[in-house]
Amino acid sequence: MEYEEIISRLRHIATSPVHPIPDEKLEKVRQEYYEKHSKSLQLFNDAQDVIPGGVEHNLSSSHPFPLAMDRAKGYKLWDVDGNEFVDYLLCGGPIMLGHHFDELDDRIVEVINEKGPATGLSCEYEILAAKEIIKRLPGVETVRFLQSGTEGCMAAIRIARAFTGKDTVIKVGGSYHGWSDQMVYSIHIPGTGALQSAGISKDCFNHIVDVAPNDFEGLEKAFKENQDNGGVAAMIVEPIGGECGTHPVHPEWNKTIRGLCDTYGALLIFDEVVTAFRLHMGGAQTYFNIKPDLTVLGKIITHGYPSCGAVAGRKDVMSVCHADLGKRAYLGGTLAANPISTAACYHALKLMEKYDALKKAADYADKLTKGLNDLFSTRDDLPFFVYNYGPILHYATTSFFAVKLTDPDFLNQILLRRKVAEDYQMAATLQGLSTLAGTRMYTCMQHDQEALDKTIQAWEYVLSLIPKS
Ligand SMILES: Cc1ncc(COP(=O)(O)O)c(C=O)c1O
Repeated sequence: MEYEEIISRLRHIATSPVHPIPDEKLEKVRQEYYEKHSKSLQLFNDAQDVIPGGVEHNLSSSHPFPLAMDRAKGYKLWDVDGNEFVDYLLCGGPIMLGHHFDELDDRIVEVINEKGPATGLSCEYEILAAKEIIKRLPGVETVRFLQSGTEGCMAAIRIARAFTGKDTVIKVGGSYHGWSDQMVYSIHIPGTGALQSAGISKDCFNHIVDVAPNDFEGLEKAFKENQDNGGVAAMIVEPIGGECGTHPVHPEWNKTIRGLCDTYGALLIFDEVVTAFRLHMGGAQTYFNIKPDLTVLGKIITHGYPSCGAVAGRKDVMSVCHADLGKRAYLGGTLAANPISTAACYHALKLMEKYDALKKAADYADKLTKGLNDLFSTRDDLPFFVYNYGPILHYATTSFFAVKLTDPDFLNQILLRRKVAEDYQMAATLQGLSTLAGTRMYTCMQHDQEALDKTIQAWEYVLSLIPKS
Protein backbone atom coordinates (compact mmCIF):
# COMPACT_ATOMS: atom_id res chain seq x y z
CA MET A 1 0.00 0.00 0.00
CA GLU A 2 1.39 3.43 -0.93
CA TYR A 3 2.19 6.17 1.57
CA GLU A 4 -0.64 8.54 0.59
CA GLU A 5 -3.27 5.82 0.92
CA ILE A 6 -1.95 4.65 4.30
CA ILE A 7 -1.89 8.20 5.70
CA SER A 8 -5.37 9.01 4.44
CA ARG A 9 -6.87 5.76 5.78
CA LEU A 10 -5.19 6.21 9.18
CA ARG A 11 -6.54 9.74 9.45
CA HIS A 12 -9.97 8.60 8.33
CA ILE A 13 -10.08 6.10 11.19
CA ALA A 14 -8.67 8.60 13.70
CA THR A 15 -11.38 11.13 12.86
CA SER A 16 -14.32 8.69 12.63
CA PRO A 17 -16.23 7.19 15.58
CA VAL A 18 -14.79 4.01 17.11
CA HIS A 19 -16.58 0.65 17.07
CA PRO A 20 -16.48 -0.70 20.62
CA ILE A 21 -17.44 -4.23 21.63
CA PRO A 22 -20.75 -3.86 23.51
CA ASP A 23 -20.52 -4.16 27.32
CA GLU A 24 -22.39 -7.46 27.62
CA LYS A 25 -20.19 -9.23 25.06
CA LEU A 26 -17.08 -7.62 26.48
CA GLU A 27 -17.91 -8.89 29.94
CA LYS A 28 -18.19 -12.43 28.59
CA VAL A 29 -14.83 -12.13 26.84
CA ARG A 30 -13.26 -10.79 30.02
CA GLN A 31 -14.74 -13.62 32.07
CA GLU A 32 -13.39 -16.21 29.66
CA TYR A 33 -9.98 -14.52 29.71
CA TYR A 34 -9.85 -14.81 33.50
CA GLU A 35 -10.95 -18.47 33.38
CA LYS A 36 -8.43 -19.47 30.70
CA HIS A 37 -5.49 -17.74 32.33
CA SER A 38 -5.81 -18.51 36.02
CA LYS A 39 -2.14 -19.37 36.58
CA SER A 40 -1.03 -16.20 34.81
CA LEU A 41 -3.40 -14.25 37.04
CA GLN A 42 -1.94 -15.85 40.13
CA LEU A 43 1.60 -15.02 38.98
CA PHE A 44 0.52 -11.47 38.18
CA ASN A 45 -0.92 -11.09 41.67
CA ASP A 46 2.35 -12.37 43.16
CA ALA A 47 4.38 -10.13 40.87
CA GLN A 48 2.58 -7.01 42.04
CA ASP A 49 4.14 -7.48 45.49
CA VAL A 50 7.69 -7.56 44.16
CA ILE A 51 7.66 -5.79 40.79
CA PRO A 52 6.18 -2.30 40.32
CA GLY A 53 2.86 -2.75 38.54
CA GLY A 54 3.54 -6.49 38.28
CA VAL A 55 4.92 -6.30 34.74
CA GLU A 56 8.29 -5.26 33.32
CA HIS A 57 7.67 -5.65 29.59
CA ASN A 58 6.46 -2.52 27.80
CA LEU A 59 5.39 -4.53 24.77
CA SER A 60 3.34 -6.98 26.80
CA SER A 61 -0.40 -7.05 26.31
CA SER A 62 -1.52 -6.26 29.86
CA HIS A 63 -5.27 -5.87 29.47
CA PRO A 64 -6.85 -7.08 31.73
CA PHE A 65 -3.59 -8.60 33.01
CA PRO A 66 -0.33 -9.80 31.42
CA LEU A 67 0.17 -13.45 30.59
CA ALA A 68 3.20 -15.36 31.83
CA MET A 69 4.86 -17.47 29.16
CA ASP A 70 6.22 -20.92 29.72
CA ARG A 71 8.06 -21.67 26.47
CA ALA A 72 8.42 -20.84 22.80
CA LYS A 73 9.28 -22.82 19.66
CA GLY A 74 9.08 -21.78 16.01
CA TYR A 75 6.22 -19.30 15.67
CA LYS A 76 4.43 -20.68 18.73
CA LEU A 77 4.22 -19.63 22.36
CA TRP A 78 2.70 -21.50 25.28
CA ASP A 79 1.63 -19.73 28.45
CA VAL A 80 1.77 -21.18 31.98
CA ASP A 81 -1.86 -22.34 31.66
CA GLY A 82 -0.95 -24.38 28.59
CA ASN A 83 -2.67 -22.08 26.05
CA GLU A 84 -0.99 -21.96 22.64
CA PHE A 85 -0.42 -18.75 20.68
CA VAL A 86 0.59 -17.77 17.18
CA ASP A 87 3.30 -15.30 18.10
CA TYR A 88 3.54 -12.03 16.18
CA LEU A 89 5.33 -10.16 18.95
CA LEU A 90 8.45 -12.25 18.42
CA CYS A 91 10.19 -10.66 21.40
CA GLY A 92 9.64 -7.23 19.87
CA GLY A 93 11.18 -8.06 16.50
CA PRO A 94 14.47 -9.99 16.76
CA ILE A 95 13.16 -13.49 16.04
CA MET A 96 13.50 -14.17 12.31
CA LEU A 97 14.43 -17.87 12.29
CA GLY A 98 11.71 -18.80 14.77
CA HIS A 99 11.93 -19.10 18.54
CA HIS A 100 14.42 -21.44 20.14
CA PHE A 101 16.04 -22.32 16.80
CA ASP A 102 18.09 -25.47 17.37
CA GLU A 103 20.96 -24.69 15.03
CA LEU A 104 21.54 -21.34 16.72
CA ASP A 105 20.97 -22.59 20.26
CA ASP A 106 23.45 -25.46 19.72
CA ARG A 107 26.20 -22.97 18.78
CA ILE A 108 25.51 -20.89 21.89
CA VAL A 109 25.50 -23.94 24.16
CA GLU A 110 28.90 -24.85 22.67
CA VAL A 111 30.21 -21.39 23.48
CA ILE A 112 28.99 -21.66 27.07
CA ASN A 113 30.42 -25.15 27.48
CA GLU A 114 33.75 -24.37 25.86
CA LYS A 115 34.40 -20.75 26.80
CA GLY A 116 32.11 -19.66 29.63
CA PRO A 117 29.82 -16.63 29.50
CA ALA A 118 32.15 -13.63 29.75
CA THR A 119 35.65 -12.55 30.71
CA GLY A 120 35.41 -8.78 30.30
CA LEU A 121 38.24 -9.14 27.74
CA SER A 122 38.39 -9.42 23.95
CA CYS A 123 37.26 -12.54 22.13
CA GLU A 124 37.45 -13.61 18.49
CA TYR A 125 33.67 -13.63 18.05
CA GLU A 126 33.62 -9.81 18.41
CA ILE A 127 35.64 -9.47 15.23
CA LEU A 128 33.75 -12.19 13.38
CA ALA A 129 30.41 -10.62 14.30
CA ALA A 130 31.54 -7.09 13.38
CA LYS A 131 32.67 -8.40 9.96
CA GLU A 132 29.26 -10.01 9.35
CA ILE A 133 27.55 -6.67 10.06
CA ILE A 134 29.99 -4.60 8.00
CA LYS A 135 29.64 -6.98 5.04
CA ARG A 136 25.90 -6.26 4.85
CA LEU A 137 25.32 -2.64 5.87
CA PRO A 138 26.76 -0.14 3.34
CA GLY A 139 27.05 2.71 5.87
CA VAL A 140 29.04 0.66 8.35
CA GLU A 141 32.84 0.46 8.45
CA THR A 142 33.37 -0.20 12.16
CA VAL A 143 31.18 -1.49 14.98
CA ARG A 144 31.14 -1.01 18.75
CA PHE A 145 29.01 -3.56 20.60
CA LEU A 146 26.86 -2.36 23.49
CA GLN A 147 24.09 -3.88 25.58
CA SER A 148 20.83 -2.48 24.22
CA GLY A 149 19.28 -0.34 21.52
CA THR A 150 18.84 2.40 24.11
CA GLU A 151 22.59 2.43 24.71
CA GLY A 152 23.22 2.40 20.98
CA CYS A 153 21.13 5.57 20.49
CA MET A 154 22.79 7.27 23.47
CA ALA A 155 26.20 6.39 22.12
CA ALA A 156 25.37 7.56 18.58
CA ILE A 157 24.36 10.98 19.86
CA ARG A 158 27.48 11.27 22.00
CA ILE A 159 29.73 10.25 19.10
CA ALA A 160 28.01 12.73 16.79
CA ARG A 161 28.50 15.56 19.28
CA ALA A 162 32.13 14.63 19.91
CA PHE A 163 32.87 14.41 16.18
CA THR A 164 31.10 17.60 15.06
CA GLY A 165 31.68 19.71 18.17
CA LYS A 166 28.01 20.74 18.01
CA ASP A 167 25.19 20.07 20.45
CA THR A 168 21.75 20.04 18.85
CA VAL A 169 20.13 16.76 17.89
CA ILE A 170 16.94 16.68 15.83
CA LYS A 171 14.49 13.82 16.18
CA VAL A 172 11.12 13.10 14.60
CA GLY A 173 8.05 13.32 16.83
CA GLY A 174 6.47 9.95 17.60
CA SER A 175 9.72 8.02 17.07
CA TYR A 176 11.19 5.75 19.71
CA HIS A 177 14.92 5.64 20.32
CA GLY A 178 14.96 3.91 23.70
CA TRP A 179 14.51 5.36 27.15
CA SER A 180 17.67 7.39 27.79
CA ASP A 181 17.09 10.85 29.29
CA GLN A 182 17.46 12.77 26.05
CA MET A 183 15.36 10.50 23.91
CA VAL A 184 12.18 10.29 26.00
CA TYR A 185 10.89 13.34 24.23
CA SER A 186 7.90 13.51 21.92
CA ILE A 187 7.64 9.73 21.91
CA HIS A 188 4.73 7.62 20.58
CA ILE A 189 2.48 10.58 19.68
CA PRO A 190 4.18 13.39 17.74
CA GLY A 191 4.26 16.79 19.45
CA THR A 192 3.85 15.50 23.01
CA GLY A 193 7.25 16.94 24.05
CA ALA A 194 8.08 16.16 27.69
CA LEU A 195 4.65 14.62 28.48
CA GLN A 196 6.19 11.22 29.26
CA SER A 197 9.40 12.52 30.79
CA ALA A 198 8.75 12.44 34.54
CA GLY A 199 12.03 12.11 36.41
CA ILE A 200 14.07 13.66 33.60
CA SER A 201 15.63 17.08 34.09
CA LYS A 202 14.20 19.56 31.59
CA ASP A 203 17.81 20.64 30.90
CA CYS A 204 18.28 17.35 29.06
CA PHE A 205 16.08 18.67 26.27
CA ASN A 206 17.92 21.98 25.83
CA HIS A 207 19.55 20.63 22.71
CA ILE A 208 16.87 18.20 21.52
CA VAL A 209 14.55 19.48 18.81
CA ASP A 210 11.59 17.51 17.48
CA VAL A 211 9.98 17.94 14.08
CA ALA A 212 6.61 16.51 13.06
CA PRO A 213 6.74 13.44 10.79
CA ASN A 214 7.01 14.37 7.11
CA ASP A 215 6.88 18.13 7.87
CA PHE A 216 9.37 19.21 5.21
CA GLU A 217 9.06 22.92 6.04
CA GLY A 218 9.48 22.36 9.78
CA LEU A 219 12.49 20.14 9.08
CA GLU A 220 14.38 22.77 7.11
CA LYS A 221 13.45 25.41 9.69
CA ALA A 222 14.88 23.23 12.48
CA PHE A 223 18.24 22.99 10.70
CA LYS A 224 18.28 26.73 9.84
CA GLU A 225 17.25 28.01 13.25
CA ASN A 226 19.73 25.83 15.08
CA GLN A 227 22.58 26.81 12.78
CA ASP A 228 22.88 30.08 14.73
CA ASN A 229 22.44 28.24 18.00
CA GLY A 230 25.69 26.25 17.92
CA GLY A 231 24.68 24.07 14.96
CA VAL A 232 23.12 20.66 14.50
CA ALA A 233 25.30 17.68 15.47
CA ALA A 234 22.94 15.04 14.11
CA MET A 235 19.50 14.03 13.09
CA ILE A 236 18.33 10.64 14.34
CA VAL A 237 15.51 8.81 12.53
CA GLU A 238 13.70 5.54 12.39
CA PRO A 239 14.06 5.19 8.62
CA ILE A 240 10.67 3.56 8.00
CA GLY A 241 8.94 6.11 10.20
CA GLY A 242 8.31 6.47 13.91
CA GLU A 243 7.47 3.36 15.91
CA CYS A 244 8.65 1.19 13.05
CA GLY A 245 6.30 2.70 10.48
CA THR A 246 3.31 3.32 12.74
CA HIS A 247 3.87 6.91 11.55
CA PRO A 248 4.59 6.10 7.89
CA VAL A 249 7.43 7.84 6.16
CA HIS A 250 6.99 9.98 3.02
CA PRO A 251 9.02 8.53 0.11
CA GLU A 252 11.16 11.71 -0.06
CA TRP A 253 11.65 12.17 3.71
CA ASN A 254 14.93 10.28 4.29
CA LYS A 255 16.51 11.66 1.12
CA THR A 256 15.62 15.21 2.16
CA ILE A 257 17.10 14.64 5.62
CA ARG A 258 20.32 13.28 4.09
CA GLY A 259 20.55 16.42 1.92
CA LEU A 260 19.96 18.79 4.85
CA CYS A 261 22.50 16.97 7.04
CA ASP A 262 25.08 17.43 4.26
CA THR A 263 24.19 21.09 3.77
CA TYR A 264 24.41 21.92 7.47
CA GLY A 265 27.38 19.69 8.37
CA ALA A 266 25.31 17.39 10.58
CA LEU A 267 25.52 13.60 10.82
CA LEU A 268 22.65 11.33 9.87
CA ILE A 269 21.90 8.55 12.37
CA PHE A 270 19.71 5.67 11.23
CA ASP A 271 18.19 3.85 14.19
CA GLU A 272 18.00 0.39 12.65
CA VAL A 273 17.21 -1.48 15.87
CA VAL A 274 14.29 -3.16 14.09
CA THR A 275 14.90 -2.54 10.39
CA ALA A 276 18.42 -3.95 9.99
CA PHE A 277 18.06 -7.62 8.99
CA ARG A 278 14.25 -7.44 9.26
CA LEU A 279 13.30 -4.89 6.59
CA HIS A 280 16.30 -5.84 4.44
CA MET A 281 19.51 -7.82 5.06
CA GLY A 282 21.29 -4.60 4.02
CA GLY A 283 19.15 -2.59 6.44
CA ALA A 284 16.86 0.33 5.70
CA GLN A 285 19.98 2.00 4.31
CA THR A 286 19.96 -0.46 1.41
CA TYR A 287 16.16 -0.47 1.12
CA PHE A 288 16.13 3.35 0.72
CA ASN A 289 19.60 3.55 -0.89
CA ILE A 290 20.72 6.21 1.58
CA LYS A 291 23.98 6.00 3.51
CA PRO A 292 23.77 7.16 7.11
CA ASP A 293 26.90 8.30 8.95
CA LEU A 294 25.99 6.28 12.02
CA THR A 295 23.77 3.23 12.46
CA VAL A 296 22.23 1.98 15.68
CA LEU A 297 21.63 -1.76 15.99
CA GLY A 298 19.77 -3.61 18.72
CA LYS A 299 17.98 -6.76 19.70
CA ILE A 300 17.93 -8.29 16.23
CA ILE A 301 21.70 -8.73 15.99
CA THR A 302 21.65 -11.40 18.71
CA HIS A 303 18.34 -12.93 17.66
CA GLY A 304 16.94 -12.65 21.17
CA TYR A 305 20.08 -13.56 23.09
CA PRO A 306 20.88 -10.97 25.74
CA SER A 307 23.20 -7.99 25.76
CA CYS A 308 22.37 -6.86 22.31
CA GLY A 309 23.11 -3.50 20.82
CA ALA A 310 25.70 -1.67 18.80
CA VAL A 311 26.63 1.67 17.37
CA ALA A 312 28.30 1.48 13.99
CA GLY A 313 29.26 3.68 11.10
CA ARG A 314 31.93 5.63 9.25
CA LYS A 315 35.46 4.86 10.45
CA ASP A 316 36.46 8.52 10.86
CA VAL A 317 33.33 9.30 12.89
CA MET A 318 33.54 6.17 15.03
CA SER A 319 37.22 6.92 15.77
CA VAL A 320 36.14 9.33 18.54
CA CYS A 321 35.39 6.18 20.58
CA HIS A 322 39.16 5.72 21.04
CA ALA A 323 40.40 9.29 20.63
CA ASP A 324 42.79 11.00 23.07
CA LEU A 325 41.58 12.20 26.40
CA GLY A 326 39.47 15.33 26.02
CA LYS A 327 38.26 14.38 22.52
CA ARG A 328 37.07 10.91 23.35
CA ALA A 329 33.37 9.91 23.35
CA TYR A 330 33.37 7.72 26.44
CA LEU A 331 31.48 4.44 26.05
CA GLY A 332 31.43 1.38 28.27
CA GLY A 333 29.58 -1.77 29.25
CA THR A 334 31.09 -4.57 31.35
CA LEU A 335 29.14 -7.31 29.59
CA ALA A 336 29.14 -5.73 26.13
CA ALA A 337 30.78 -7.74 23.33
CA ASN A 338 30.77 -10.93 25.40
CA PRO A 339 31.27 -14.31 23.68
CA ILE A 340 27.60 -15.35 23.94
CA SER A 341 26.16 -12.20 22.36
CA THR A 342 28.75 -11.87 19.65
CA ALA A 343 28.56 -15.59 18.79
CA ALA A 344 24.78 -15.23 18.61
CA CYS A 345 25.21 -12.28 16.24
CA TYR A 346 27.72 -14.08 14.01
CA HIS A 347 25.69 -17.29 13.74
CA ALA A 348 22.24 -15.68 13.56
CA LEU A 349 23.20 -13.51 10.58
CA LYS A 350 24.70 -16.49 8.77
CA LEU A 351 21.67 -18.68 9.51
CA MET A 352 19.25 -15.99 8.38
CA GLU A 353 21.04 -15.91 5.06
CA LYS A 354 21.32 -19.71 4.82
CA TYR A 355 17.56 -20.15 5.28
CA ASP A 356 16.53 -16.99 3.37
CA ALA A 357 14.62 -16.14 6.55
CA LEU A 358 13.76 -12.56 5.67
CA LYS A 359 12.19 -13.43 2.32
CA LYS A 360 10.14 -16.25 3.85
CA ALA A 361 8.95 -13.98 6.69
CA ALA A 362 8.12 -11.22 4.19
CA ASP A 363 6.22 -13.58 1.85
CA TYR A 364 4.11 -14.76 4.77
CA ALA A 365 3.54 -11.15 5.87
CA ASP A 366 2.24 -10.29 2.38
CA LYS A 367 -0.19 -13.22 2.57
CA LEU A 368 -1.30 -12.22 6.05
CA THR A 369 -1.84 -8.61 4.98
CA LYS A 370 -3.97 -9.74 2.05
CA GLY A 371 -5.91 -12.28 4.12
CA LEU A 372 -6.78 -9.76 6.81
CA ASN A 373 -7.61 -6.98 4.36
CA ASP A 374 -9.91 -9.40 2.47
CA LEU A 375 -11.60 -10.26 5.76
CA PHE A 376 -11.95 -6.60 6.82
CA SER A 377 -13.43 -5.70 3.44
CA THR A 378 -16.35 -8.07 4.19
CA ARG A 379 -17.39 -5.50 6.80
CA ASP A 380 -17.88 -2.26 4.89
CA ASP A 381 -19.08 -0.57 8.07
CA LEU A 382 -15.58 -0.97 9.56
CA PRO A 383 -12.57 1.01 8.26
CA PHE A 384 -9.98 -1.50 9.55
CA PHE A 385 -6.95 -2.23 7.37
CA VAL A 386 -3.44 -3.69 7.40
CA TYR A 387 -0.25 -2.49 5.72
CA ASN A 388 3.21 -4.01 5.80
CA TYR A 389 6.85 -3.30 5.07
CA GLY A 390 8.12 -6.82 4.51
CA PRO A 391 7.84 -8.77 7.79
CA ILE A 392 6.70 -5.67 9.73
CA LEU A 393 2.90 -5.33 9.75
CA HIS A 394 0.64 -2.66 11.15
CA TYR A 395 -3.07 -3.15 11.64
CA ALA A 396 -5.23 -0.09 12.09
CA THR A 397 -8.52 -0.43 13.94
CA THR A 398 -8.85 2.66 16.13
CA SER A 399 -5.66 4.51 15.08
CA PHE A 400 -4.89 6.11 18.44
CA PHE A 401 -1.38 6.86 17.19
CA ALA A 402 -2.83 8.96 14.36
CA VAL A 403 -4.80 11.32 16.61
CA LYS A 404 -3.35 14.82 16.29
CA LEU A 405 -2.90 17.19 19.18
CA THR A 406 -4.91 19.70 17.17
CA ASP A 407 -7.89 17.29 16.96
CA PRO A 408 -10.83 18.13 19.22
CA ASP A 409 -10.70 16.45 22.63
CA PHE A 410 -7.46 14.75 21.62
CA LEU A 411 -6.47 13.33 25.02
CA ASN A 412 -9.81 11.60 25.62
CA GLN A 413 -9.79 10.42 22.02
CA ILE A 414 -6.37 8.79 22.48
CA LEU A 415 -7.46 7.10 25.72
CA LEU A 416 -10.78 5.89 24.31
CA ARG A 417 -9.19 4.57 21.12
CA ARG A 418 -6.45 2.82 23.03
CA LYS A 419 -9.02 1.17 25.31
CA VAL A 420 -11.11 -0.11 22.38
CA ALA A 421 -7.97 -1.45 20.66
CA GLU A 422 -7.01 -3.19 23.92
CA ASP A 423 -10.45 -4.81 24.06
CA TYR A 424 -9.97 -6.16 20.52
CA GLN A 425 -6.54 -7.38 21.55
CA MET A 426 -7.96 -9.15 24.62
CA ALA A 427 -10.46 -10.95 22.38
CA ALA A 428 -7.75 -11.86 19.85
CA THR A 429 -5.46 -13.09 22.65
CA LEU A 430 -8.26 -15.33 23.83
CA GLN A 431 -8.28 -16.85 20.35
CA GLY A 432 -4.54 -17.53 20.52
CA LEU A 433 -2.90 -14.47 18.96
CA SER A 434 0.07 -12.65 20.46
CA THR A 435 0.63 -9.20 18.92
CA LEU A 436 2.38 -5.95 19.80
CA ALA A 437 0.45 -3.07 21.38
CA GLY A 438 -2.74 -4.01 19.54
CA THR A 439 -1.35 -2.43 16.36
CA ARG A 440 1.73 -4.28 15.15
CA MET A 441 2.81 -7.78 14.11
CA TYR A 442 6.19 -9.21 13.19
CA THR A 443 6.56 -12.42 11.23
CA CYS A 444 9.33 -15.04 11.10
CA MET A 445 10.37 -17.65 8.54
CA GLN A 446 8.34 -20.40 10.23
CA HIS A 447 4.86 -18.85 10.08
CA ASP A 448 2.80 -21.11 7.85
CA GLN A 449 -0.68 -21.80 6.48
CA GLU A 450 -1.84 -23.13 9.84
CA ALA A 451 -0.75 -19.88 11.52
CA LEU A 452 -2.51 -17.89 8.81
CA ASP A 453 -5.77 -19.84 9.18
CA LYS A 454 -5.70 -19.45 12.94
CA THR A 455 -5.09 -15.71 12.64
CA ILE A 456 -7.97 -15.18 10.22
CA GLN A 457 -10.28 -17.24 12.45
CA ALA A 458 -9.27 -15.18 15.49
CA TRP A 459 -10.13 -11.98 13.66
CA GLU A 460 -13.41 -13.43 12.40
CA TYR A 461 -14.24 -13.91 16.07
CA VAL A 462 -13.22 -10.33 16.98
CA LEU A 463 -15.34 -8.92 14.14
CA SER A 464 -18.30 -11.04 15.23
CA LEU A 465 -18.25 -9.18 18.55
CA ILE A 466 -18.63 -5.78 16.89
CA PRO A 467 -22.23 -4.95 15.97
CA LYS A 468 -22.91 -4.06 12.33
CA SER A 469 -23.74 -0.40 11.77
C1 LIG B 1 13.70 1.86 16.87
C2 LIG B 1 14.13 1.49 18.25
N1 LIG B 1 15.17 2.11 18.81
C3 LIG B 1 15.61 1.81 20.04
C4 LIG B 1 14.99 0.84 20.78
C5 LIG B 1 15.48 0.51 22.17
O1 LIG B 1 16.07 -0.73 22.20
P1 LIG B 1 16.22 -1.54 23.59
O2 LIG B 1 14.84 -1.94 24.00
O3 LIG B 1 17.11 -2.69 23.26
O4 LIG B 1 16.85 -0.61 24.56
C6 LIG B 1 13.88 0.17 20.26
C7 LIG B 1 13.17 -0.87 21.04
O5 LIG B 1 12.15 -1.38 20.69
C8 LIG B 1 13.43 0.50 18.97
O6 LIG B 1 12.37 -0.12 18.40
